[in-house]
Amino acid sequence: MPVWTDGFPRHELLVLALVCAVFAAALRIWRPAHQRAPRLTWALLNLALLAQLLAWLLSANGQALPAQILRNTVLLLLVWAALQVAILWLFKVLLPAMRIQLPQIAQDLTLTGLSLAWGLLWLRLAGVDPSQLFATSAIMTAVVAFAMQDTLGNVMGGVALQLDNSLRVGEWVQIDDLSGRVVDVRWRFTEIVTRNRETVVVPNSWLMKHRFRVLRRQPGQPLQWRRILHFNIDQTAAPGAVLRVLQQSVQDASIAHVAVDPPPNAVLMEVGPGYHHYALRYWLTDPQFDDPTDSAVRVHALTALARAGMRLGVPLAERLLTHEDELSRNARDQRELARRTTAIRGIALFASLPEAEQQTLAEHLVHAPFVAGSVITRQGAEAHWLYLVLHGTAEVVVENAAGRTTVAHLHDGEFFGEMGLLTGEPRSATVRAVTDVECYRLDKEGFGQVLAARPELADEISTLLVQRRAAMGARLEQSAQAPVSARKDLLAKMQAFFSVKR
Ligand code: CMP
Repeated sequence: MPVWTDGFPRHELLVLALVCAVFAAALRIWRPAHQRAPRLTWALLNLALLAQLLAWLLSANGQALPAQILRNTVLLLLVWAALQVAILWLFKVLLPAMRIQLPQIAQDLTLTGLSLAWGLLWLRLAGVDPSQLFATSAIMTAVVAFAMQDTLGNVMGGVALQLDNSLRVGEWVQIDDLSGRVVDVRWRFTEIVTRNRETVVVPNSWLMKHRFRVLRRQPGQPLQWRRILHFNIDQTAAPGAVLRVLQQSVQDASIAHVAVDPPPNAVLMEVGPGYHHYALRYWLTDPQFDDPTDSAVRVHALTALARAGMRLGVPLAERLLTHEDELSRNARDQRELARRTTAIRGIALFASLPEAEQQTLAEHLVHAPFVAGSVITRQGAEAHWLYLVLHGTAEVVVENAAGRTTVAHLHDGEFFGEMGLLTGEPRSATVRAVTDVECYRLDKEGFGQVLAARPELADEISTLLVQRRAAMGARLEQSAQAPVSARKDLLAKMQAFFSVKR
């Protein structure tokens, strides 16, 4: 082997070795998570040092040619180590700092390519023609390639997956019944971590040959995944009303990871024997939370259906088997009436009413459960109901140009919605369930009957109504005190609205 490194300045080799060592050590401090990454660099540096020591020994003993070969090897090892450390810095420090995440295979390919190029250059500098090497080893290569068919398929698969961008680190994929996030694409396989924190290793060649689904953010848009939930609803419920209730149930609730835009929508999918099949579709913003979000949406939808008196569908055949007789139906109605009367006694406003009037009131009540987070009534909406809170906490929120202000919290035994119901004005505030809230709703007709029988209730309510308005004004820093005439005005308005005379 020619002595071509004789002219190569020795001190530059030393500087190169030191720079490599400093950068390899700095990477350990800079990126402790990758502290094992420069292993090969350290090994190459140590080998280079060993070769240099041997070269000195040999040349001291007059063995000039072996000493020269070793010096050539030192150069080979040092440049290789420098390439190593430079690529580590590029892939582990610089690119991540620019928020570019590339899989391991990209780093491996770059290093392999550069190392091969350097190896060939080194051979050429050493006076060896690399093409001769390839010709003699062609048969060997063919044998090895044949033996490594599968492995090569995986490697080529990994390269192709990267080049055509069909799979990127961080994306969600669905492969048959498995779904998870891609954490790395390596030479031979792609690593996927499922929600159960299992690491699944999928050979790249498999991914090349089969179909898989990728949840990918479209350019300029957030990541969104449409989910479809199915409901069978009794055929007696009007389809148009069911669609509205299903859509509204999601729109009125601020459920985590449910997109506001596009809004949820419901469709009638099928007409079954005794029931209709509906699908509620919504957009999920984080695939990690698919089951919990589906569950939250179902809870809201089922509660809204129950509030609207829409029952889940039972196939006709089963329904005939569970035919109710009149006696059991009456007993059930009586139990429900007793439950409502007890609830009315728990509401301070109605607690002093005689039992007969409480019963009249009870007949008009409609059970209305709400899940935490749902809007019970919205500011500006037309008022149809007075709400009695059985259990739970709701907040009263006013939205105006200055923003959203919580003006009050309502608890067990309180009522709300009287402002709109009693005056005919639109709702003055939005009332939202803070916890799960169980309510009874009373319609205008029922309330009119109670007012007609007990006109003094109007006095009591208008006093409370004025107090609430004053509290709302104070919270909104508009007026600390409601004008004194307001109560009389309200009372007159209320009496006119319900045609109650005193
Ligand atoms: P309404 O305007 O029909 O709808 C919103 C309801 O919020 C309103 O009736 C009241 O019942 C209730 N509300 C408004 N302000 C207050 C308050 N300061 N304290 C308690 N409840 C309030």
